[in-house]
Amino acid sequence: METNDYYKRVLRDLRISVTDRCNFRCRYCMPEEIFNKDYPFLSRDHILSVEETIRIARIFARLGVQKMRITGGEPILRKELPEIIAGISQIDGITDIALTTNGSLLAKQASKLKDAGLMRVAVSLDALDDETFMKMNGGKARVQQVLEGIEAAAEAGLLVKVNMVLQKGVNEHALLPMVRYFREKGHILRMIEYMDVGNTNGWDWEHVVSKKEILERIGKEFPLEPVDPNYAGEVASRFRFLDGKGEIGVISSVSDAFCSTCTRGRLSADGMFYTCLFATKGHDLRKLLRSEPDDEAIMEKIVAIWEGRHDQYSLERGTTKEDRSGGAKVEMSRIGG
Ligand code: GTP
Ligand code: 5AD
Ligand code: SF4
Ligand code: SF4
Repeated sequence: METNDYYKRVLRDLRISVTDRCNFRCRYCMPEEIFNKDYPFLSRDHILSVEETIRIARIFARLGVQKMRITGGEPILRKELPEIIAGISQIDGITDIALTTNGSLLAKQASKLKDAGLMRVAVSLDALDDETFMKMNGGKARVQQVLEGIEAAAEAGLLVKVNMVLQKGVNEHALLPMVRYFREKGHILRMIEYMDVGNTNGWDWEHVVSKKEILERIGKEFPLEPVDPNYAGEVASRFRFLDGKGEIGVISSVSDAFCSTCTRGRLSADGMFYTCLFATKGHDLRKLLRSEPDDEAIMEKIVAIWEGRHDQYSLERGTTKEDRSGGAKVEMSRIGG
C-alpha cells in the first residue's frame, strides 16, 4: 500500500530517532548553555521501547516505507541499538537501513551493528584539525577518534558517507583538506549548507556557505561534473571528479530546496511523528502504540496525517532569514536531522 500527501509525494523513507541525547555539544545543534544538566531530556518511560519501535517500523513498512535511517541525538548511545536494527532488518519490504552518527563511538560498535543488519552509515565530521573540530563539537572529541570510527565502519563492510556542515568563518578553511582526504580514502563526502533547524542555533543567512560557492571552491582544484541521483528525491546533489576518482555531494536545503520530492517522515524517540524537519508540531503515535492493539487502526491514523501533509518549509522560506515559526520548531536533536 502507498500513501500520498497533498502534493502527491509518497511516504517512502522514515528517519527514526532512538535517543535525544548526545555526547557532543555542537554549537549549531545542542549548544552547551542550553543543553546542560537542567535541560529536560526525555525520560526512559517516554522513549519508545525496542518492541514499540519495531512495531511502528513494521506499520510504516506496510504503508510503503522502504528505507529506514536511525538517528538521534547520537544513536549509538542507545544501548539496545543492535536489537532495534536487527528487528528492523527482519521487516518485509525494507531494502535500506542506514545510521547517522557522530562517529565517536563507532570504532567499537561497527561490526556489531553490521552483524545486526545495518547497511550504511553517515558520519558527521566538520573539520580535520582538532582546533576547529573541537570548537564546533563543544570540546567533546578529537578528529582521530572519528576517523577511527569511519575506518572501522568501512572495514566492517558498511558503506560510508561523511557529512560536513559548512559555516562561514568557522570551518570554511577545512573544506579542501576534507575533500582531498576523503577522495584518497574513497569515502563520499557531502557538504551540508548550514540550516535554520531548531530554535537555539542563532542561524543567519550570513553564516551559510552556498552550494554554488562550495562547488566553485572545490572545482578550482578538482574539476567536477554533475551525476544523476541514485534515487528519486535524493537529498544530496551528486558530482563526480572528472579524473574519475570518486564523487562528492552537496545538500542545499537553504539555497536550492528539494521539498518537491521529499518523501521523508520522521519519528522522534518519544514516538512523535513529524512530516517535516522544520515542523512545529508532531503527531503522538506513542499514545496510540500504548493504547491501540490493532495495527490497522494505527495505519489509518498515519495515512490521515500523511494525506494532510502540506509541508515544504525550505521551498517557502526561500533565502529570507525570517523565522515564521515563532521559535516553536522541533529541535534537531529530537528528530535527528
Ligand atoms: P542518503 O540516504 O545517503 O541519501 O542520506 P540522507 O542525506 O538522506 O541522510 P543524512 O542523515 O546523511 O542527512 C544529511 C543531511 O541532510 C542532514 O543534515 C539532514 O538534516 C539533511 N536532510 C535530510 N533529509 C532532509 C530533508 O528532508 N530536508 C532537509 N531540509 N534536510 C534534510
Ligand atoms: N544545519 C545543517 N546540518 C546540521 N546538522 C546538525 N545541525 C545542522 C544544521 N543546523 C547535521 C549534522 C549531521 C546531520 C544529521 O545534520 O552535522 O551531519
Ligand atoms: Fe550530537 Fe549530531 Fe547534534 Fe552534534 S549535530 S550535537 S553530534 S546530534
Ligand atoms: Fe522535506 Fe521539510 Fe526538508 Fe522540505 S524542508 S525537504 S518538506 S523535510
